[in-house]
Amino acid sequence: MNEPFYVTTPIYYVNDVPHLGHAYTTLLADVLARYARLQGRETFFLTGSDEHGQKVQEAAARRGVSPQTHADETVVRFKEAWQGLHIAYDDFIRTTEPRHVRVVETVLQRLWEQGDIYLGQYEGWYCVPDERFWTEKDLLNGACPDCGRPVERIAEPNYFFRMSAYQEWLVEYIQQHPTFIRPDSRRNQVLGFLRQPLGDLCISRPASRLSWGIPLPFDASYITYVWFDALLNYITAAGYLTDAPRFNRLWPRALHLVGKDILITHAVYWPTMLQAAGLPQPRAIFAHGWWIAGGAKMSKSLGNVVRPLALAEVYGVDAFRYFLMRDMVLGRDADFSEENLARRYQADLAHDLGNLLHRVTSMTERYFEGRVPRPGELEARDRELQERTLALIPQVFDQVDCLALNEALAAVMDLVGGVNGYLEQSAPWRQAKAGRLDRVATSLYTAAEALRLAAILLSPVMPERMAELWQRLGWQPPAALQDGLTWGLLPPGALVTIGDPLFPSQDNHTLSSFRFGQRV
Ligand code: MSP
Repeated sequence: MNEPFYVTTPIYYVNDVPHLGHAYTTLLADVLARYARLQGRETFFLTGSDEHGQKVQEAAARRGVSPQTHADETVVRFKEAWQGLHIAYDDFIRTTEPRHVRVVETVLQRLWEQGDIYLGQYEGWYCVPDERFWTEKDLLNGACPDCGRPVERIAEPNYFFRMSAYQEWLVEYIQQHPTFIRPDSRRNQVLGFLRQPLGDLCISRPASRLSWGIPLPFDASYITYVWFDALLNYITAAGYLTDAPRFNRLWPRALHLVGKDILITHAVYWPTMLQAAGLPQPRAIFAHGWWIAGGAKMSKSLGNVVRPLALAEVYGVDAFRYFLMRDMVLGRDADFSEENLARRYQADLAHDLGNLLHRVTSMTERYFEGRVPRPGELEARDRELQERTLALIPQVFDQVDCLALNEALAAVMDLVGGVNGYLEQSAPWRQAKAGRLDRVATSLYTAAEALRLAAILLSPVMPERMAELWQRLGWQPPAALQDGLTWGLLPPGALVTIGDPLFPSQDNHTLSSFRFGQRV
């Protein structure tokens, strides 16, 4: 369990404006990294930007600035968005950084010297916006099968990576490592893809057509294909070429989170590149589904993007994070609707969680002058809640490990509901009337402890609101939050705070002015 945890997001095209699709993967990585830290594991969370290629070159030319200046200016949008969503990455890699360029050159040189790269003739269809080559049979109605935009016919000498030489090895590797590609449906998809002969991968573009990228170290008249360049970011940041012990520790533990549209590049190109370079494979590649809006994948070209920060402004960052993690069954597509977000907000956060905190703090105020009471002897009902709460801790970590975040969150919210039920049954108000203050103290303390622990389990998803919750309960979390995961840490005598609702009710609010179809 205490193995290091290394999680990556795709590096996003620097030209794009961050939308819900990007935000989701990055939030997922952030949440997983926070759960790993909560378990006391060495954690490395990497995100970044993909900055080379034709699109960036063209956008820069349109603006009359250099591609580097353009990238420097646009990358800020991602950094700001991640900051706004409380995303705490450990490293943000940009493919234009010298540390990365050096890795790309080194790997290319090695593959060239060992004969895994050769000069051939390329002929094919090229999708400029996606920077991907397609074969005739890939095309959908003569257009890019991915984005539906027109493709260009290109024929030219180019360098190739001998990917076909690794096909057999890859099939065997995937068969022997059942959790390498997840979920199973994606694993089967890749195995299906590999039933056809695998071609070699064109890894260069003539510098005359594309100058914005990393020149091949053995032929400067060619530029490295952007995917070959981009995938290597994952080893650059883990310390390949700069920190061997760290690299050896982290790299084999890597978990790549990707959307299903970039599964083949990650599950076919990337493992064969690593194998050719004599490097170990990452632990797993996990492909999640898409967020769908109005029946179609959210994308800038379709104009149905959701602007994550605008929604976070209306509902609060943490509530937005909670919704995304609670409502996507990992691996499947999920329909985004603000109504669903509003419903979850109201039922789970404002009602169940927020009300529970309010009940506990206001009864503490009423019966114990706002100070955490000292619990008496536990009775069966109290012990039951205590045991249920403690049993939930390893269960949640297991569910998170299986990437079943929606289930983990459902289980914690179930406990929150259970604490509300416990208070109904213990009815401290009746005990108070009967003059049994010791029972009132035990019930309130038990409920507060269960809530404090539930909040720790929710804190990777809602870090800011849960810190506020602990403060209201009179608890100061220890420097290493995992030390807070035992029963009985609320100090009797500490002052509770009632304060404003933790999640103000949105009952009277109409849905935000956000609309689908709005271009960003
Ligand atoms: N630059 C490449 C990745 C290189 S990784 C070595 C790239 N970038 S991207 O900016 O297009 O970001 C793609 C990521 O965002 C993918 O994981 C993709 O699945 C995700 N999403 C884009 N739209 C999405 C939705 N509507 N829903 C969920 N995620 C989707 O590809």
